[in-house]
Amino acid sequence: MLKSSEKIAVCPGSFDPVTNGHMDVIEKGLSFLDRVIIAVSTYPRKNFLFDVNERIRLLEDIYSGNPKVEIDRFDGLLVDYLRRKNVRIILRGLRAVSDFEYEFQMALTNRILDKSVETVFLMPGEEFFFISSSLVKEIAFLKGDISRFVPASVKEALTMKVKSSV
Ligand code: PNS
Repeated sequence: MLKSSEKIAVCPGSFDPVTNGHMDVIEKGLSFLDRVIIAVSTYPRKNFLFDVNERIRLLEDIYSGNPKVEIDRFDGLLVDYLRRKNVRIILRGLRAVSDFEYEFQMALTNRILDKSVETVFLMPGEEFFFISSSLVKEIAFLKGDISRFVPASVKEALTMKVKSSV
């Protein structure tokens, strides 16, 4: 049950798949938030490697013992989802300068769509600065070692995808 005094943020994304970088940002968020709702986008904007159920299952496995994290899915506008959840804060990771324009555009658009919404950006640790889901997938398909970039369950799932694609 949502308590009005709780500090809750929605962390939206594709999570195709979740990386150690995402997890670091969520962990940092939880150092000052009471709860984080990880909202997986179902919008078929991209060519996802993992379908939405797979992306959610990976996140659920990782956060199953953590009562401060809820895993959910959303379609449509993010601001409409936030309204339904009665949450005003969007949590996003900001890595290198290259992220900035895209993130800035999304944050301002969301604020125009709903002025009560604010986006909070957190920087992942330096060791995660260069990690992205796309890079991890590329390394996995080129048979590189992704152990440092993703949790073991994600590594396993990616290895299966690589095997099933040959
Ligand atoms: O992990 P990603 O792919 O960078 O996440 C992007 C995401 C899902 C957060 C963004 O595309 C989004 O919020 N989509 C929902 C549609 C929406 O609200 N668009 C208008 C604001 S940008």
